[in-house]
Amino acid sequence: MFDFIPAPDAEKRDIYRDLLNADDALTAGEPDAVANMANVAALMGEFISDCNWAGFYRLVAGELVLGPFAGRPACIRIALGSGVCGTAAATGQTQLVPDVRAFPGHIACDGDTRSELVVPVLRNGEVVAVIDLDSPELARFDSEDKAGIEALAAMLSDRI
Ligand code: SME
Repeated sequence: MFDFIPAPDAEKRDIYRDLLNADDALTAGEPDAVANMANVAALMGEFISDCNWAGFYRLVAGELVLGPFAGRPACIRIALGSGVCGTAAATGQTQLVPDVRAFPGHIACDGDTRSELVVPVLRNGEVVAVIDLDSPELARFDSEDKAGIEALAAMLSDRI
């Protein structure tokens, strides 16, 4: 049985260290990308507080397609350059958005979402997927969240 539970009062850097270790343990040696994304999405949902959606979009034939996630059903396909996820995928740059209503072209899959963090996953310098975190709180994500999810994306480079 897997028993990965974050301490209730843990510091952010400790949460991301534990999340990375748990994700490493669950994905090491497993070649199936869907299985790995599914477990990582479930763990992000467990570890990251005040998050109403945590998951993956994969780059498939030039557009983003919904992957495994924890949260409500979401938009299935997103064009490159469109919304926060499409911008992260098109630029290869993390998008840290404190107020989604101020982001031109934001795609509102869930009207409750107020802030968002999207991190591209690169393999050999090419975007293969993005990790998307949404929150109903304004400015929920900061540079520590960004660093934590970027470390996770780097680890997943050849596992998804
Ligand atoms: N809000 C995102 C779309 C994905 S959902 O939030 C899960 C965007 O603008 O790219």
